[in-house]
Amino acid sequence: MKIVRVEDYDKMSRTAANIISAQVILKPTSVLGLATGSTPIGVYQQLIKWYEKGDLDFSQVTTINLDEYKGLSPEDAHSYKYYMRDAFHKHINIKPENIHLPNGLAEDPDAECRRYDDVIQNSGGVDTQLLGIGHNGHIGFNEPGSVFHRDTYVTDLTSRTLEANNRFFSKEDVQPVSAYTMGIKAIMQAKRIVVIVSGKSKAAILNTALNGPIDPQVPASILQIHNDVTLIADQDALSYL
Ligand code: GLP
Repeated sequence: MKIVRVEDYDKMSRTAANIISAQVILKPTSVLGLATGSTPIGVYQQLIKWYEKGDLDFSQVTTINLDEYKGLSPEDAHSYKYYMRDAFHKHINIKPENIHLPNGLAEDPDAECRRYDDVIQNSGGVDTQLLGIGHNGHIGFNEPGSVFHRDTYVTDLTSRTLEANNRFFSKEDVQPVSAYTMGIKAIMQAKRIVVIVSGKSKAAILNTALNGPIDPQVPASILQIHNDVTLIADQDALSYL
């Protein structure tokens, strides 16, 4: 694993955006695996800036997101489809048919999981996967558990994750308690993984994920055995290492 230590969130975002830009420039038909949460916002903002300057072209790019809340429509402001549209997709020239997320409203969840695995498979595989880490070590919505899940599945969110993400929901909103997530196999099959981590609150879990045993109780620990992971983290996030 390559570890890039940067000063702060802004530098982390620009460094990760640089890697994604290079990916898109060198391979215009790139398949990007994308993440949500607060951490990648700065990466998306930087990529949009370079797109607006004319340096990037997303017309042949495909994006495949890690996860989606179960039960939310794409129009719901809390859905990841909405987040992605708002934070990234509506600002660039990506084709709508090249944007993929699980369908939170699918009538048959099992069929939806298989459909999503087919999407990943048929895309030819993810070239570069952008990844954040949850406070409990989750990646995508692969929560701590007794096994690493292979394929896309529906997971119950842990109380820790619900708590961490309730800042995005107001009192009147109903916060979903389950989600679709890409399995560990699809994440690990990405040719390259770029992990971004910022802030003191992630320092302990980052240390455990990198230096502890590979354990499904810390899903991010599986990244130790991927052969092309670049961790871009700020000094606060790296303070326990
Ligand atoms: C959510 C997402 C993850 C993300 C995590 C961390 O739960 N499903 O993909 O990595 O949050 O979020 P944040 O970056 O806001 O800490």
